[in-house]
Amino acid sequence: MHQPVYPDQTALEEAAAELAEFPPLVTSWEIERLKQQLGEAAEGKRFLLQGGDCAEQFKGCTSDQITAKLKILLQMSLVMVQGTRLPIIRVGRLGGQYAKPRSSPTETRDGVELPSYFGDIVNRPEFDEQSRRPDPWRMLRGYERSSLTMNFIRALVGGGFADLHHPEYWDLGWVEHSPHASEYQSMVNQLGDAVRFMETITGISVGNLSRVEFYTSHEALLLEYEAALTRMVPRRDGWYNLSTHFPWIGMRTAAADGAHVEFMRGLRNPIAIKIGPGIEPRNLKSAVTPLIDTLHPDDEPGRLTFIHRYGAEKVAEHLPALIEAVRSTGRKVLFVCDPMHGNTRSTSAGIKTRRFDDILMELEQSIEIHRNCDSHLGGVHFELTGENVTECTGGARGLTDDDLREGYRSLVDPRLNYEQSLEMAMLIARRIGD
Ligand code: PEP
Ligand code: CO
Repeated sequence: MHQPVYPDQTALEEAAAELAEFPPLVTSWEIERLKQQLGEAAEGKRFLLQGGDCAEQFKGCTSDQITAKLKILLQMSLVMVQGTRLPIIRVGRLGGQYAKPRSSPTETRDGVELPSYFGDIVNRPEFDEQSRRPDPWRMLRGYERSSLTMNFIRALVGGGFADLHHPEYWDLGWVEHSPHASEYQSMVNQLGDAVRFMETITGISVGNLSRVEFYTSHEALLLEYEAALTRMVPRRDGWYNLSTHFPWIGMRTAAADGAHVEFMRGLRNPIAIKIGPGIEPRNLKSAVTPLIDTLHPDDEPGRLTFIHRYGAEKVAEHLPALIEAVRSTGRKVLFVCDPMHGNTRSTSAGIKTRRFDDILMELEQSIEIHRNCDSHLGGVHFELTGENVTECTGGARGLTDDDLREGYRSLVDPRLNYEQSLEMAMLIARRIGD
């Protein structure tokens, strides 16, 4: 379940063997550095901002789309530096976010049953037999796209992607539509200070972005792909998944005795695991203890992140029990909130969407619940894009269900658009810093 079945095993073996010869996409020292920073986030000394598409598409590997994603994440991180007064760890959901779990292995339309669409790294979304056939050679196409994406991001970051010193040039026209207009305006005015503040605490000039760090992450769902890029490296112990810095286990594949936990157990990378409302609060201790025992036996700082994604309605019921369950193991994890996946709904026209206010409410509640439980929220995980799509409702412009038709591009989950993302960053930054 949740994994594609490849009809041609020989082709799968050949494709995996070829992939295993290719150079890594990231290095072990970058991975170790991120792990150390995540460990500091777990201590409240940094804050994680993780975001990107629900699923990248091969055709989205373009200069414009990559630039837009990097830009929104960097801008959000600046807003958050200012509000939280903490260094922000920036992690993209990109450079490999091509595989999607599906609750049903097949999809039936008009009496025709075909394999589900498992993301571009597996098959194609069009509903015909050839498109839906899982093709292992697409793993190589996915590796290539990931490599092109990361190459461009490294070049942009390394070359001084200098769009940051001048918030007055950001696309901030929407600010005036917001009930928070005056607060935003003063925040925008202060962003110049934020840049200087960031320079002070990092000791790095933003004008010289060459050492600003940007990491990648994706759901490590397709084990054939992940395994082919998992390697030993000289002068280090153990195995590194060199397809990404920070792989995570999705909610649907998070069983303590499942294949994904078994695979990730053997990695040296920092790893995350999604925790959703499927586990009753009273069962959390017995569910979480084996996960922590298996994935985090040595309590290594930064090693394990729990990404909770309960939804605005359920977070108050579940989160205190999760915090308590982790505490009872005596080991430390980094808590991150994904306010997207528990807040998905369908419009009356059947469009999958999320409300800005539900997303915000889950975040605000999470921050507060952690505080009340003597814990702290150490990061946020968003599905977002730097483009002007209409996939989530609400935000300063008050997008409605009817507006969603205009620019809905995601093949899977709805993302915050550029304006909504920046607004969200502004709204939560202060709360975290309070
Ligand atoms: C996702 O992150 O796109 C996803 C499928 O999330 P979850 O595993 O939390 O449902
Ligand atoms: Co999603």
